[in-house]
Amino acid sequence: MRLQDKIATGCDSIDKLLEGGISRGSLSLVYGEPETGKTTFAIQCAVNCARQGLKALFVDCDATFHPRRLAQIAGEGLEKISELTVLMRPTRFSEQTAIIDRLAEYTSKNFGLVVFDTVTSLYRLETAETPAKIFDLNRELNRQIAVLAQIAKTQQIAVLLTSQVRAAFVQATVSIEPVATRVLKFWADMIINMKLTEKSGIVQAVLEKSSSNMPLQTCYLRIREDGIVSCPNLSKAA
Ligand SMILES: Nc1ncnc2c1ncn2[C@@H]1O[C@H](COP(=O)(O)OP(=O)(O)OP(=O)(O)O)[C@@H](O)[C@H]1O
Ligand SMILES: [Mg+2]
Repeated sequence: MRLQDKIATGCDSIDKLLEGGISRGSLSLVYGEPETGKTTFAIQCAVNCARQGLKALFVDCDATFHPRRLAQIAGEGLEKISELTVLMRPTRFSEQTAIIDRLAEYTSKNFGLVVFDTVTSLYRLETAETPAKIFDLNRELNRQIAVLAQIAKTQQIAVLLTSQVRAAFVQATVSIEPVATRVLKFWADMIINMKLTEKSGIVQAVLEKSSSNMPLQTCYLRIREDGIVSCPNLSKAA
């Protein structure tokens, strides 16, 4: 695979595991507990996409994208990176539907990456407001992700989804959680699970699925002001 077929994550150990980064033409999923660096990781991919001269669409579904965080991660070259980074902010699940249904015409020109950051947050909101519609909403979520997987392939774009899961004891009270995670995992070609560790600012990334079909692989990462970086000492000790 050519390097241009990958979008670097900018995190050495993850790029090594993924043989250069997340793949164009594939659907990638990064999921995990709150505060495990999923948004940071997604911004970092958008920044590296722009550094490769390609546009990135960042769909901020849970209103957590801050330009200041982009600036911290982008460092020098922020101006060019900002020009190539397009931000969308749906506030209802129906708006997310509208974005996805018009995505193919929008991303046909020079896009390398589409991010849906916390792709399940508006779905979750809607299921909480109208529990009677849960089956329709599940079907719609599944349809949306199928469309994204299709666009990734037909337009050779890397599609990156992030999703939040709660710890098991909380999950017991949130019955919709497993359904959404199952849907995302079904469609994803690459899956990383981000886990909190006992050390503050350090997370464990578990590569659960990848195109190379390697067994489960793990590395440790540090969340810093300028983004997520490898934490090799911990990885060796693990
Ligand atoms: N400028 C910074 N310097 C260092 N660490 C930071 C900085 N900004 C955020 N963090 C750390 O990054 C973590 C949150 O990262 P991020 O928002 O990417 O997580 P997330 O997995 O997307 O969370 P959520 O599930 O709530 O969406 C927090 O632990 C926070 O302390
Ligand atoms: Mg986030």
